[in-house]
Amino acid sequence: MKRSKTLTMTALISGAALTLAACGGGGDAEGDSTAGGAAEGGKTLRLAINQTEDYPSTVALTNFGENLSEATDGRWSVDVYPNEQLGAQAETLQLVADGAVDLAVVAGPQLENLNKDFVVFNLPTVFESVEHETAVINDPEITKDLYSSLEDKGISVVGGFTAGMRGVYTKDGPIEKPADLNGMKIRVQETDTNIRMIELMGGTATPMAFGEVYTALQSGVIDGAENAEPSYVTQKHYEVAKHFSYTDHLINTDYLIINSDLLASMSEDDKAIFDEQWDVFLDDFGGLWEESLNSAIEEAKAAGVTFTQPDKKAFADALAPIVEESITNDVQQKLFDDAKAAAPGA
Ligand code: GCU
Repeated sequence: MKRSKTLTMTALISGAALTLAACGGGGDAEGDSTAGGAAEGGKTLRLAINQTEDYPSTVALTNFGENLSEATDGRWSVDVYPNEQLGAQAETLQLVADGAVDLAVVAGPQLENLNKDFVVFNLPTVFESVEHETAVINDPEITKDLYSSLEDKGISVVGGFTAGMRGVYTKDGPIEKPADLNGMKIRVQETDTNIRMIELMGGTATPMAFGEVYTALQSGVIDGAENAEPSYVTQKHYEVAKHFSYTDHLINTDYLIINSDLLASMSEDDKAIFDEQWDVFLDDFGGLWEESLNSAIEEAKAAGVTFTQPDKKAFADALAPIVEESITNDVQQKLFDDAKAAAPGA
């Protein structure tokens, strides 16, 4: 029943990119728009996200835009484009770098493709819980250099928020142990780390964009995918893959990124308001995330999904080599050590 999205999306992406390029990096509200992504005095910011309108971050970012507008007397506001309307994450990452889109939500694997140091927050076992992850990714002492490391590419990281603890879901199941994934093609996000992760867990990895997953599941191109319950349900993947296994193999982070020229062009006062509203967003999102987790599980159960508790230790043991394989420099080692030191009870 899912939308025949690919064609319309291609048209929308090229249409959006052309329109945005033609108006020099996006329309402005009351302020002046200048070269690249920069804006003086204010702008209606275009924000790209690949989630549905009712996904918690889409809702909280829409609220963020309204609050920002109110706090700046309408000078800065946000138009949220959900459902990959402006492109899949790999594309919107580039559009933000170019200043054609102002803001986008991208998951850790995408940033890892630009700076390998982001791998640390995309590693199985690094975070013990969403609470642990949230504390680490919002601690400037740990993240400051990492979040500014892409500025020479035109990208600044505003901050991170959870994309949840991930399980594996399959058309045939249940998945109870790594051997059950043998021969199964499981969709992953597009990085070597995530490919390796599924291989270690026993499956065969098929990297693809988020918006392609429903059709790939339906047509049998893949046998399953991995994500947290809110995405599993809002993307309707549960309609075609009815076995959800709590492998808990990864806690993934989403980041809000902004064009660096745009950020640099904000006045000190407006930047302070933007940061204040980001803190409000984080609180708002936290509550919405909890609600969405509960309602997603209920909705999936009502639709006949089976939730399985597999042999988690067997998956964790299988994944153990990935940490050593992935951490290859001192910056990554420090991020890893800092993250571990921030664990509750560490
Ligand atoms: C989560 C995450 C997205 C990401 C997606 C994926 O839904 O919030 O940012 O794109 O996983 O698996 O691709």
